[in-house]
Amino acid sequence: MRVYKLKQDLQAHLENVLKKQNTIGLVPTMGALHQGHLSLVNTALIDNEVVVVSIFVNPTQFNNQNDLRNYPRTLDSDLKLLATLKNSKVIVYAPEASDVYQGKIISQSFGFDGLEHEMEGEFREGHFNGVATVVKNLFEIVKPHKAYFGEKDFQQLQIVRKLVEISGFNITIIGCPILRESDGLAMSSRNGRLTQEHRKASPFIYEMLKAAKVKFGTKSANEVSEWVKNEFANHKLLALEYFTIANETTLKPIKRKNKQNKYRAFIAVFAGDVRLIDNIELN
Ligand code: PAF
Repeated sequence: MRVYKLKQDLQAHLENVLKKQNTIGLVPTMGALHQGHLSLVNTALIDNEVVVVSIFVNPTQFNNQNDLRNYPRTLDSDLKLLATLKNSKVIVYAPEASDVYQGKIISQSFGFDGLEHEMEGEFREGHFNGVATVVKNLFEIVKPHKAYFGEKDFQQLQIVRKLVEISGFNITIIGCPILRESDGLAMSSRNGRLTQEHRKASPFIYEMLKAAKVKFGTKSANEVSEWVKNEFANHKLLALEYFTIANETTLKPIKRKNKQNKYRAFIAVFAGDVRLIDNIELN
């Protein structure tokens, strides 16, 4: 498997790929890869002749320096996991920050029609400017035909779609379904940081989402939200940060149910000092 640290080497290789009229898929990651990432890579492998997996812990998207410091950096095991795919179409780009950012390592300021102010945007100041800056830089470096993002970070997925629209990139964004552990916990690089006790407790998050989906069939969004909040208020190990039922396209909290709209429930929970997010399609 080819591993590039420098964009100029990666780009020299990709030029040859393009000469053969091949398509390039990009799977941007921050490493600490798990089966969820592999499923993105496998989807990208079906669609493209070459798949670039970027592994880069992006400093500008962390609003909490502790979180950045503690974010797992596991390049060796990430490469081993990708090698299990035994597929010569996979290329890794694992740069230093100076290769991804020109000059200062700072975020650009974007407007995404308000998508950036909801949910994660409210609790993680500057997060989406950081995500959009690095994704834009990666798009400019790799120039993929298609890019793959997990639906676990659904708000991020919608913001990347908006980024493509406003920046005029000719890139198709593919959202891929959430992969879950057998007990329902959404796969995440953060799960490895959970204590045994918190890991055992955290499938409760998806249980609440599934129950909320059932309740949403007969109850108002307000009633469902109040019920979820109460359930968490009684929980000894998990602290709810937010539970929101929102329109899937605008991400605005639902006011009145309208059958024409698609809704999703979004949740963020602290399990000790590990922050977990998840979501579920409601209709
Ligand atoms: O979802 C992630 O892992 C990150 O936000 C991304 C898209 C790789 C940007 O750093």
